[in-house]
Amino acid sequence: DAGKGGYDHYMLKEIHSQPDALTDTLSGRVNPGDGGVAFESLPDGAFADVEQVRLVACGTSYHASLAGARLLRQAGIPAHAELASEFSLPESADDTLAVAVTQSGETADTLGAVRAAADAGAQTLAVTNVVGSTAARECDDALFIRAGPEIGVAATKTFTSQVATLSLLSRRIAADVGADAPGDAGILDGLDALPGDVRDVTTGDAARAIANRYRGSDAYFFIGRGAAHSVALEGALKFKEITYEHAEGFAAGELKHGPLALVTPDTPVFAIFTGDGDEQTLTNVEEVQSRGAPVVAVAPDGHPAVDVADDHLPIPDTVPTCASLLAAVQLQLLSYHAAELLDRAIDKPRNLAKSVTVQ
Ligand code: G6P
Repeated sequence: DAGKGGYDHYMLKEIHSQPDALTDTLSGRVNPGDGGVAFESLPDGAFADVEQVRLVACGTSYHASLAGARLLRQAGIPAHAELASEFSLPESADDTLAVAVTQSGETADTLGAVRAAADAGAQTLAVTNVVGSTAARECDDALFIRAGPEIGVAATKTFTSQVATLSLLSRRIAADVGADAPGDAGILDGLDALPGDVRDVTTGDAARAIANRYRGSDAYFFIGRGAAHSVALEGALKFKEITYEHAEGFAAGELKHGPLALVTPDTPVFAIFTGDGDEQTLTNVEEVQSRGAPVVAVAPDGHPAVDVADDHLPIPDTVPTCASLLAAVQLQLLSYHAAELLDRAIDKPRNLAKSVTVQ
């Protein structure tokens, strides 16, 4: 218990340690003068020959990879995130950077994918939390997310640190290849404010009240688009991992293509607003409300969604990528409190392991 630092669970401690973890993740990596990104472990111009990026990962790391791929595309670089267990490549991948995004650096599916990429001629990079891990040793280069050890099986602080790292990596690759698309405008200011913004979320008490209000529901749905899509998936994964309740995340625009058939007055819908496609997501909120589902808006105070929704999980107002991470933190707290009310084994959920070393 000493390692829990006064918290009931490692997961809660790790949720609350995110301001410090993010400070470490970002520390010394952005030049305040020109916004250039330098990583201690990567030589200048390391990515100069890269024409496309494929990120391979599992579980929470896959959701971080979706965010990373989106940022790379916004910076003008062809990029895709892929489930490591479904990865396949053309025979020659000389123009490709394969990025293994893995907290532990030991996940068998991810190692298998990045090894296949290396065999096809791709340049390889590990984005990992563990110095000396297999991924860090085997890839051409390694980039450490510096989140500190994570004990809870459900990933929390490593998700936010992964996305923060990938935000910087996308800028660095764009600079190395000379891409000139605007990227996520304001991201550096957003990242600078992020540790403090996360602290505002972790010191709030809205998530506990909402978890209590909706306990006993038939299922829990999470929707988002753009920067919020990966966080809708991650919010649902976190919820099912530690509460054992049925939860699903959907791209908000996909609701009408199937999932809407599941929506009833007993399926609360958590709608995430990050300033990226919010008007359309508001339309999706109306669609679920007209089927009787209660809606919880994860949005800044004063956002139009707050007036429309039944409940509100507040996040500070910032750029979309950072807003999505603040929403992720609110949803971590929601899952934690829902699991606590159900008396689940929060740090060691049934049937799950922190690191999965079989394919
Ligand atoms: C397991 C863990 C997840 C994690 C996934 C990938 O399933 O329970 O929390 O996201 O492995 O792990 P990695 O170490 O590769 O990020």
